[in-house]
Amino acid sequence: MNPKFETHCPQLAKLLPSLIADDKQHALLLNSLSMMESVGARKIAAYVDPIHVDQITLQHAAEEMRHAYYLKRQILKLGQNLTDYSPNNLLAPRVSYRYLHRLDWACSRHLKSLGYTGRMLKHGCYLLVTYLIEVRAMKLYHTYQDALTRAGSRVHVRSIIKEEEGHLNNMSEQLQAFDSNWHEHIDSLMPIERQLFDGWIKHIHHAISN
Ligand SMILES: [Fe+2]
Ligand SMILES: [Fe+2]
Repeated sequence: MNPKFETHCPQLAKLLPSLIADDKQHALLLNSLSMMESVGARKIAAYVDPIHVDQITLQHAAEEMRHAYYLKRQILKLGQNLTDYSPNNLLAPRVSYRYLHRLDWACSRHLKSLGYTGRMLKHGCYLLVTYLIEVRAMKLYHTYQDALTRAGSRVHVRSIIKEEEGHLNNMSEQLQAFDSNWHEHIDSLMPIERQLFDGWIKHIHHAISN
Protein backbone atom coordinates (compact mmCIF):
# COMPACT_ATOMS: atom_id res chain seq x y z
CA MET A 1 0.00 0.00 0.00
CA ASN A 2 1.20 3.50 -0.81
CA PRO A 3 1.61 5.29 2.54
CA LYS A 4 1.30 8.72 0.86
CA PHE A 5 -2.42 8.40 0.45
CA GLU A 6 -5.16 8.43 3.01
CA THR A 7 -7.09 5.21 3.35
CA HIS A 8 -9.90 6.16 5.69
CA CYS A 9 -13.15 7.96 5.07
CA PRO A 10 -14.90 8.69 8.40
CA GLN A 11 -18.25 9.76 6.85
CA LEU A 12 -18.50 6.50 4.94
CA ALA A 13 -17.28 4.39 7.87
CA LYS A 14 -20.23 5.73 9.88
CA LEU A 15 -22.81 4.71 7.26
CA LEU A 16 -21.48 1.30 6.33
CA PRO A 17 -22.25 -1.05 9.26
CA SER A 18 -26.06 -0.64 9.07
CA LEU A 19 -25.98 -0.49 5.27
CA ILE A 20 -23.97 -3.72 4.96
CA ALA A 21 -26.32 -5.43 7.45
CA ASP A 22 -29.21 -4.92 5.03
CA ASP A 23 -28.70 -7.07 1.89
CA LYS A 24 -31.12 -5.04 -0.23
CA GLN A 25 -29.48 -1.71 0.58
CA HIS A 26 -26.05 -3.25 0.27
CA ALA A 27 -26.92 -4.52 -3.22
CA LEU A 28 -28.04 -1.01 -4.19
CA LEU A 29 -24.73 0.42 -2.99
CA LEU A 30 -22.76 -2.18 -4.97
CA ASN A 31 -24.82 -1.44 -8.05
CA SER A 32 -24.27 2.32 -7.62
CA LEU A 33 -20.51 1.85 -7.32
CA SER A 34 -20.61 -0.47 -10.34
CA MET A 35 -22.44 2.21 -12.32
CA MET A 36 -19.88 4.85 -11.31
CA GLU A 37 -17.03 2.56 -12.39
CA SER A 38 -18.83 1.99 -15.67
CA VAL A 39 -19.22 5.74 -16.26
CA GLY A 40 -15.46 6.05 -15.62
CA ALA A 41 -14.66 3.22 -18.02
CA ARG A 42 -16.77 4.81 -20.75
CA LYS A 43 -15.08 8.17 -20.20
CA ILE A 44 -11.67 6.55 -20.63
CA ALA A 45 -12.89 4.77 -23.77
CA ALA A 46 -13.96 8.15 -25.18
CA TYR A 47 -10.53 9.61 -24.35
CA VAL A 48 -8.58 6.78 -25.99
CA ASP A 49 -7.13 7.82 -29.34
CA PRO A 50 -7.95 5.23 -32.03
CA ILE A 51 -4.31 5.12 -33.16
CA HIS A 52 -2.00 6.62 -30.55
CA VAL A 53 -2.80 4.60 -27.46
CA ASP A 54 -0.32 2.89 -25.17
CA GLN A 55 -0.60 -0.29 -23.12
CA ILE A 56 -1.01 1.54 -19.81
CA THR A 57 -4.08 3.42 -21.02
CA LEU A 58 -5.63 0.25 -22.45
CA GLN A 59 -4.96 -1.52 -19.16
CA HIS A 60 -6.62 1.34 -17.29
CA ALA A 61 -9.72 1.22 -19.51
CA ALA A 62 -9.98 -2.56 -19.16
CA GLU A 63 -9.53 -2.51 -15.37
CA GLU A 64 -12.18 0.16 -14.80
CA MET A 65 -14.70 -1.87 -16.79
CA ARG A 66 -13.65 -4.95 -14.82
CA HIS A 67 -14.43 -3.05 -11.60
CA ALA A 68 -17.95 -2.34 -12.87
CA TYR A 69 -18.36 -6.05 -13.70
CA TYR A 70 -16.76 -7.28 -10.47
CA LEU A 71 -19.01 -5.13 -8.25
CA LYS A 72 -22.02 -6.31 -10.21
CA ARG A 73 -20.98 -9.94 -9.58
CA GLN A 74 -20.71 -9.27 -5.82
CA ILE A 75 -24.45 -8.48 -5.77
CA LEU A 76 -25.17 -12.16 -6.47
CA LYS A 77 -23.41 -13.13 -3.23
CA LEU A 78 -26.13 -11.21 -1.39
CA GLY A 79 -28.84 -13.24 -3.10
CA GLN A 80 -29.96 -10.11 -4.99
CA ASN A 81 -30.22 -9.51 -8.69
CA LEU A 82 -30.19 -5.97 -10.06
CA THR A 83 -30.31 -6.27 -13.80
CA ASP A 84 -29.41 -2.73 -14.83
CA TYR A 85 -28.56 0.79 -13.62
CA SER A 86 -32.08 2.17 -13.73
CA PRO A 87 -32.82 4.64 -10.88
CA ASN A 88 -34.78 2.10 -8.78
CA ASN A 89 -31.71 -0.14 -8.71
CA LEU A 90 -29.38 2.56 -7.35
CA LEU A 91 -28.80 4.61 -4.21
CA ALA A 92 -28.95 8.37 -4.86
CA PRO A 93 -29.09 7.76 -8.63
CA ARG A 94 -28.88 11.32 -9.86
CA VAL A 95 -25.94 12.36 -7.65
CA SER A 96 -24.13 9.07 -8.25
CA TYR A 97 -24.43 9.58 -11.98
CA ARG A 98 -23.35 13.21 -11.91
CA TYR A 99 -20.33 12.90 -9.61
CA LEU A 100 -17.89 11.99 -12.36
CA HIS A 101 -19.40 14.26 -15.03
CA ARG A 102 -19.24 17.26 -12.70
CA LEU A 103 -15.63 16.53 -11.78
CA ASP A 104 -14.74 16.16 -15.44
CA TRP A 105 -16.40 19.47 -16.18
CA ALA A 106 -14.53 21.23 -13.35
CA CYS A 107 -11.13 19.89 -14.53
CA SER A 108 -11.86 20.86 -18.10
CA ARG A 109 -12.87 24.40 -17.09
CA HIS A 110 -9.71 24.71 -14.97
CA LEU A 111 -7.42 23.67 -17.84
CA LYS A 112 -9.27 25.83 -20.37
CA SER A 113 -8.74 28.85 -18.12
CA LEU A 114 -4.98 28.14 -18.40
CA GLY A 115 -5.14 28.10 -22.20
CA TYR A 116 -5.21 24.34 -22.85
CA THR A 117 -7.09 23.26 -25.97
CA GLY A 118 -7.54 20.20 -28.20
CA ARG A 119 -5.71 16.96 -27.46
CA MET A 120 -3.67 18.47 -24.59
CA LEU A 121 -6.88 19.60 -22.92
CA LYS A 122 -8.35 16.11 -23.25
CA HIS A 123 -5.15 14.48 -22.02
CA GLY A 124 -4.74 16.84 -19.05
CA CYS A 125 -8.36 16.39 -18.12
CA TYR A 126 -8.04 12.59 -18.21
CA LEU A 127 -4.99 12.72 -15.93
CA LEU A 128 -6.41 15.19 -13.39
CA VAL A 129 -9.85 13.56 -13.16
CA THR A 130 -8.31 10.12 -12.81
CA TYR A 131 -5.88 11.25 -10.13
CA LEU A 132 -8.63 12.88 -8.07
CA ILE A 133 -10.87 9.85 -8.39
CA GLU A 134 -8.11 7.44 -7.45
CA VAL A 135 -7.27 9.43 -4.31
CA ARG A 136 -10.95 9.12 -3.42
CA ALA A 137 -11.04 5.44 -4.42
CA MET A 138 -8.19 4.68 -1.98
CA LYS A 139 -10.22 6.09 0.91
CA LEU A 140 -13.54 4.65 -0.24
CA TYR A 141 -12.51 1.09 -1.05
CA HIS A 142 -10.20 0.68 1.96
CA THR A 143 -12.96 1.93 4.27
CA TYR A 144 -15.46 -0.32 2.52
CA GLN A 145 -13.20 -3.39 2.73
CA ASP A 146 -12.55 -2.74 6.45
CA ALA A 147 -16.30 -2.61 7.11
CA LEU A 148 -16.88 -5.78 5.02
CA THR A 149 -14.17 -7.64 6.94
CA ARG A 150 -15.55 -6.47 10.27
CA ALA A 151 -19.05 -7.62 9.26
CA GLY A 152 -17.75 -10.99 8.03
CA SER A 153 -19.30 -10.30 4.62
CA ARG A 154 -18.73 -12.56 1.62
CA VAL A 155 -18.34 -9.44 -0.53
CA HIS A 156 -14.74 -8.32 -1.16
CA VAL A 157 -13.17 -5.36 -2.96
CA ARG A 158 -9.49 -6.12 -2.35
CA SER A 159 -8.69 -6.82 -5.99
CA ILE A 160 -10.11 -3.41 -6.92
CA ILE A 161 -7.96 -1.66 -4.31
CA LYS A 162 -4.82 -3.18 -5.77
CA GLU A 163 -5.64 -1.96 -9.28
CA GLU A 164 -6.75 1.51 -8.15
CA GLU A 165 -3.42 1.89 -6.38
CA GLY A 166 -1.65 1.05 -9.63
CA HIS A 167 -3.70 3.68 -11.49
CA LEU A 168 -2.87 6.30 -8.89
CA ASN A 169 0.88 5.68 -9.14
CA ASN A 170 0.56 5.77 -12.87
CA MET A 171 -1.25 9.07 -12.90
CA SER A 172 1.33 10.70 -10.62
CA GLU A 173 4.07 9.78 -13.12
CA GLN A 174 2.10 10.91 -16.15
CA LEU A 175 1.02 14.17 -14.50
CA GLN A 176 4.67 15.02 -13.80
CA ALA A 177 5.40 14.63 -17.50
CA PHE A 178 2.31 16.65 -18.44
CA ASP A 179 3.05 19.67 -16.24
CA SER A 180 5.64 20.02 -13.47
CA ASN A 181 3.15 22.30 -11.64
CA TRP A 182 0.53 19.57 -11.54
CA HIS A 183 0.30 19.67 -7.72
CA GLU A 184 -1.05 23.22 -7.99
CA HIS A 185 -3.82 22.05 -10.32
CA ILE A 186 -4.68 19.27 -7.92
CA ASP A 187 -4.67 21.70 -4.98
CA SER A 188 -7.24 23.90 -6.68
CA LEU A 189 -9.41 21.00 -7.87
CA MET A 190 -9.40 18.85 -4.74
CA PRO A 191 -11.91 21.03 -2.83
CA ILE A 192 -14.34 20.63 -5.75
CA GLU A 193 -13.99 16.84 -5.62
CA ARG A 194 -14.45 16.93 -1.84
CA GLN A 195 -17.64 18.94 -2.23
CA LEU A 196 -18.99 16.50 -4.82
CA PHE A 197 -18.17 13.51 -2.65
CA ASP A 198 -19.67 15.13 0.47
CA GLY A 199 -22.85 15.75 -1.54
CA TRP A 200 -22.85 12.10 -2.64
CA ILE A 201 -22.49 10.87 0.96
CA LYS A 202 -25.28 13.20 2.09
CA HIS A 203 -27.62 11.79 -0.55
CA ILE A 204 -26.64 8.19 0.21
CA HIS A 205 -27.37 8.85 3.87
CA HIS A 206 -30.74 10.31 2.97
CA ALA A 207 -31.55 7.37 0.68
CA ILE A 208 -30.82 4.72 3.31
CA SER A 209 -32.61 6.57 6.10
CA ASN A 210 -35.90 6.65 4.20
FE1 LIG B 1 -12.14 1.68 -10.59
FE1 LIG C 1 -8.97 3.33 -11.29
